[in-house]
Formats: sequence, C-alpha cells, structure tokens
Amino acid sequence: MRSDDPAIQQASSLRDTSSRERQRWHVTVFMRRSEPLSVQRAYVADQYSDADKLRIRIETHRLYSQGTESLTGDILDALALAPGLSLLDVGCGSGKWHARLAARGVVTVGLDLMPGMLQAARGAGAGLEPRPQLICADAQAMPFQAATFDRVLCSGVLYHVADCRRALAEMRRVLRPGGLAVISTNGADTMARLNELHADAARALGYTPMRISGERGHFSMGDLALVQSVFSSAERYLLEGALVFAEADPAVQFYATNRIDGIENRPPDKRHRAELVPLVRKRIEAIIEREGEFRVPKSVGWFVAHA
Ligand SMILES: C[S@@+](CC[C@H](N)C(=O)[O-])C[C@H]1O[C@@H](n2cnc3c(N)ncnc32)[C@H](O)[C@@H]1O
Repeated sequence: MRSDDPAIQQASSLRDTSSRERQRWHVTVFMRRSEPLSVQRAYVADQYSDADKLRIRIETHRLYSQGTESLTGDILDALALAPGLSLLDVGCGSGKWHARLAARGVVTVGLDLMPGMLQAARGAGAGLEPRPQLICADAQAMPFQAATFDRVLCSGVLYHVADCRRALAEMRRVLRPGGLAVISTNGADTMARLNELHADAARALGYTPMRISGERGHFSMGDLALVQSVFSSAERYLLEGALVFAEADPAVQFYATNRIDGIENRPPDKRHRAELVPLVRKRIEAIIEREGEFRVPKSVGWFVAHA
C-alpha cells in the first residue's frame, strides 16, 4: 500500500521502539461545537483530490477485517441485480463496484463530486462492458430526470454530505417506481477505539480533538428513521466485526489517511501530522505488546430502501 502523501509515508517509515506502556484510556469527550470532520468541504476535497487515501482504506479493510468480510457480497445480493437494469452509483469514488456490476450486465452511471475520483473510476472502467458512464455532480442535486434508474447504490458516502435528507430524497426521486436503493454506511460508534486513541494523542500535544464520523457521527446505521421518512419503506442490516492488526504499521498508515486531521484549527502547514504519527504509533505498539494485537471494533451495514 504505497502513497505519495508525506504523512502516510511517514506513518509507514517512522519507528518509535519505546515499549513503555502508557495506559491513558480516557473516556473521550469530543467537542460538539463544530460539524464533524467527515462533512467539512475542505476535508472532503483533501481526502478525495485523488484516489490514494481511499485505496489504502479499502485495502486495509480487505486485509485486516474480521466479521465483516461478507459486506460486498451482501450489498450486491441486496441490490437484486439482473442484466439490463440501470443503476446509479452515488459517490462512486474510484469505481470499486463497477467491474462487479458490469459482470452482472448492469448499466451503471457513476456520480461523484470529485474529478480526481472520477479520473480513477474512468481508468478502472475503461475495459468494462457495459462501460460505466461517469458524471461529476453533487449527490444533493443530481442532474437526472425523475424515475430514471432501476437501482441506486450509495456506499460510504452520506457521512460526507451536509444535507443527507436532501441526498436521500434525490435518490428516491431518480428511482423508478418499484426500484430500490442500497445505502451503506458505518455503525454509529464504529472504530471508537481508534477515535479515542487519536483524541488522547491530540490532547497530549495540546490540540483539541474534534468529532469524527463514526463516534455518533454524521449519517450512520443509526439513521433508519431518517431513511424510512424519505422512502416508502426501508430495512436495516448490520455487521459487527473488527480491524485486527498484529503490527503497528498498517494501523498507523490507515489512521494517517483520515482521522489524523480530526483536530480543531488544523495548522495550515499540516505539522500536526508529523507530530501525531509517532505518538499514535507508540500507543498502538504498546497495545500490541500488552494485548498481542491491536483490535479496533467496527460495525458497518446497509439500508435497503424502496421507492
Ligand atoms: C468513502 S468514498 C466511497 C466511494 C465508493 N462509493 C466506494 O464504495 O468505494 C466517498 C466518495 O463520496 C464522494 N462524495 C463526497 N461528498 C459527495 C457529494 N456531496 N456528492 C457526490 N459525491 C460525494 C467522494 O468524492 C468520494 O469519492
């Protein structure tokens, strides 16, 4: 898992071999003043200017997950696909789903806010048949007529969207009668252990940690009532599991792709990244020495929503 991001490179290369345990497990009280990190436009732009950070996270989940491995297959099953169906992939990112959809004969349109992600999706979709069509637009105002698609897929996107109700209403609007949307997101308290570790390290350096999506973050699997209020009906499916790391490296690299920026008033020169990486590494190494592994409980799921 290589990246050009200096913070991620540093996360891969820095070592702090101290094995002293610092058992500083506080109950983390996140600041409620500002919107969560995951929704901030500047953060979303930084995250998805290209596909690098997302690629590392997808790879980390693929390699280190326990208990949630069936997610991809479960979502594809939930979509009830058949050849010739049209599907809108909202927030398609680098097009992770497109080969699987094409293999099922589905005619896919991918929509994303970020040109860099669409560029990656374009590369991934070049050899596919049917070839996905890609559109740069906001999930909150989609450039399609009502009743255009048989299916909507929205995987890991709504925690980045300021007005989730509006995005959900757009999904319903573009679905044909009888169509269905499968909307995947994180459990409400997913990866709280990593969020707490970050908050603790940030505080030790004099920073104020901020709320990150996940820890009762913006749009989670706790939002069944919201989905039901927009669609004619909706059901919820949840998987509980964990990321389990035997070594600090991949955990720190994963942390350095996103949570590392979860502090109030981030320094414009991003020096917090170089400060946080060794501290977080040290704490993860201490946990591995103590517990034999670094286990981060996570939960993820999907809503099946009917137009
Ligand atoms: C975590 S990635 C998920 C990508 C893909 N759905 C997947 O499952 O791999 C989130 C994606 O949502 C996109 N995104 C964020 N806010 C958006 C918005 N308001 N409208 C459309 N796409 C958005 C980002 O650019 C990014 O590509």
